[in-house]
Amino acid sequence: MLPNVNQRIVLKRQSDGMPSVDDFGLAEAPVPTPGDGEILVRAVHLSLDPYIRKAIRGDHPGHRKLDPGDVIYGRSVCRVVQSRNASFKVGDALVAETGWQLVAAIPTSKVVQRIDQSQGPLSAFVGALGMPGLTAWGSVAHLAPPRLGDTFVVSAAAGPVGGIVGQLARRAGARVVGIAGGAEKCRIVTSEYGFDACIDYKTDTWVDDLTAACSRGIDIYHDNVGGPILTKLARLLNLYATVVLCGRPGDYHSATFDGVALGPFIGKRARMKGLVVYDYEPDMPRYMTVASDMIRAGQLRIREDRADGLAATPAHFMKVMRGENVGKALVTVGPER
Ligand SMILES: NC(=O)c1ccc[n+]([C@@H]2O[C@H](COP(=O)([O-])OP(=O)(O)OC[C@H]3O[C@@H](n4cnc5c(N)ncnc54)[C@H](OP(=O)(O)O)[C@@H]3O)[C@@H](O)[C@H]2O)c1
Repeated sequence: MLPNVNQRIVLKRQSDGMPSVDDFGLAEAPVPTPGDGEILVRAVHLSLDPYIRKAIRGDHPGHRKLDPGDVIYGRSVCRVVQSRNASFKVGDALVAETGWQLVAAIPTSKVVQRIDQSQGPLSAFVGALGMPGLTAWGSVAHLAPPRLGDTFVVSAAAGPVGGIVGQLARRAGARVVGIAGGAEKCRIVTSEYGFDACIDYKTDTWVDDLTAACSRGIDIYHDNVGGPILTKLARLLNLYATVVLCGRPGDYHSATFDGVALGPFIGKRARMKGLVVYDYEPDMPRYMTVASDMIRAGQLRIREDRADGLAATPAHFMKVMRGENVGKALVTVGPER
């Protein structure tokens, strides 16, 4: 089960703007030996998340800028293969900060979550039952709980965060309208996730289409994208609407201002709330109960966009950077059992 040699994806060079597969390299290293109190884990599913781009640059909390040769940051679903810590036993399934590599010797401070497989499939622990799910919970249960009949809009609606935000908001009684790029993503959002409507912002008519879909105005907007969508949508907000600021993909590649005009938000007396997922970690057990019940009942649907094999990781990450992933992006690098 343990590979003879550890394969890892390392940084070849830092780059400005859109990264490319040439910024990454495949390297080999001996399988590490866990120190006292540490565990050796083998990765099963690597989680590819947008924040990794900023983390590589040292532009994300808790991550130093990587140097050439460093393993790329990232969480994975993994299994313990050796334990020098009494709290973990061989075979335990975890989510941990392993980076993009096949095996890692880690202190237990890098363990993010212990996996209870009765709650859902392993891969869901980096998706609906992991960080993206908790982000959605932070929005819908904490920052902007909808009231019955509210019109709730969410962008990047086909992705793991947006898809779960919308499904939680619907469960709370809101009328949910997604915004996503392309007809296929919009089809998934309505027919698989069950949103009331989804608007393709890549068409010329999207503002009119969104206006028609939100005929009573927008009460809550969960913003995953910033930029022109946030600016254009401001006109449709009801007075005292809430806007949850969650992500700005324009920021992946540069920290420059993305030109959002804030004036209309003043006129709407909008409440703008920044979301940081880590704030909701204490509420993870409650979210896990809700989400695992919903998964069992078939009420929480999330797509996965999977690739196989460690070598495929940089190209799959580029898909996320271009916004082409449909659902939770992950790379399967080892067997589940
Ligand atoms: N604040 C927090 O604590 C927190 C935690 C987790 C995630 N986030 C943020 O939440 C957002 C959604 O996360 P996710 O994991 O669910 O991601 P995701 O939806 O899988 O990917 C982001 C989506 O953003 C859209 N997008 C719009 N403009 C883009 C651009 N210029 N480049 C790339 N993508 C663009 C794309 O979908 P469409 O084409 O369909 O719009 C893309 O699929 C991200 O912005 C992420 O950084 C924030």
